[in-house]
Amino acid sequence: MYKDFAVRSNTERFKDLKELTARINSSLRDPSIQPPSLELITLQMLEHALIEVHGSSGSVMTYNPEKGVLRILAGIGIPPSIKDILEVGPGSDKISRKVFDTGHEIFVTDTVEMKAQTQLKQMYYDPNSSGSFMSLPVMTIDGLTGVLNMNAAKGNQFRKVDLSYGLMLSTAIGIVMSKHGSIGKPDLENRDEMITEMAVVGYLSALGRQNAWVFTHSMNVERYTAIIYEIANGKPCPEGLRLAARLHDIGKTGVDDDILNYAGPLGREQRIVMEDHTVTGDAMVSAIDTNGIASGARQHHLRFDGDADAWPNSYPDPSVFGERIHPFARYIAVADAYDAMNSDRPYRSGLSLKEIIEEIRRNKGRQFDPVPAEALIQAHQEGKLAHFH
Ligand SMILES: [Fe+2]
Repeated sequence: MYKDFAVRSNTERFKDLKELTARINSSLRDPSIQPPSLELITLQMLEHALIEVHGSSGSVMTYNPEKGVLRILAGIGIPPSIKDILEVGPGSDKISRKVFDTGHEIFVTDTVEMKAQTQLKQMYYDPNSSGSFMSLPVMTIDGLTGVLNMNAAKGNQFRKVDLSYGLMLSTAIGIVMSKHGSIGKPDLENRDEMITEMAVVGYLSALGRQNAWVFTHSMNVERYTAIIYEIANGKPCPEGLRLAARLHDIGKTGVDDDILNYAGPLGREQRIVMEDHTVTGDAMVSAIDTNGIASGARQHHLRFDGDADAWPNSYPDPSVFGERIHPFARYIAVADAYDAMNSDRPYRSGLSLKEIIEEIRRNKGRQFDPVPAEALIQAHQEGKLAHFH
């Protein structure tokens, strides 16, 4: 039940976030409207976030490199006497400074945990808060640029889904800052690109923090997919296919870690939950509305030959096979299998490269579309598939 709730809730929340950015961006685009300041945009995003996570107060802080201090750019539920003058300099014992200096979030679910953090101080003790809070780094393309702080309202404790949402939002704020420019010069050209980018980075940061090996695997699959596409087609891989590869396993954010990391063959029930990552991924990625990306998430475990008796089995729509499988998914399937066999997993060690290539060759035209399968074999022979763990 928790799984269903977490997935639906993140998907729904993401849609809201998308609408919010679309609104902000359309006002950025309209030449008759004065573009809103960065302060106003972040304030709107913060307001939205506090409603979503049921928070009592929060702030977005930005770093001033000349003075070496963090200041509040936008704050809600914080007295002006603090909001307008607070400067958090180097060596401060404030939580926000620690987050900024280390680049790691601090997430506290309850007051017991809060007491364990006594060496660190909040910049403001919110009387309306339960004591549960999160303080998250805000990154732009130029690196760390600020901190997002949120306190939970009385009677509420932040949960893991709230943290995922906070991470999405801090990433989104970072991208707005990158695109908008901290001096308030908005980039009016790349609205759609920005929305997609926000979504992708947000999803991936949630995935990366949840499960390191699924995250690394996603990055590897993107690289391999791009390489084999280029070999098979003699032209660079389209951006949509890269995104589809990066997000193909995003539905695993809805699978419990004890199943993802299970040391042994999965039982029937567990397999059903695991196989569901394709359908969940489709639902999550559909929120971005970009062609083919959702098909990559849904169809990357379909067999090219549609053989119902063969292993690995074809899911979640075994009646779809051959050319009816989206081309993105057919490329991803090969890159996915290659990386899966080449990596150690919590439940088994990787195979040798010779065994892997034999396996791909054996499955050419069976599990895999022969075109990307042949391209992968060629890429291997040309030494193009060095990978990272
Ligand atoms: Fe998968």
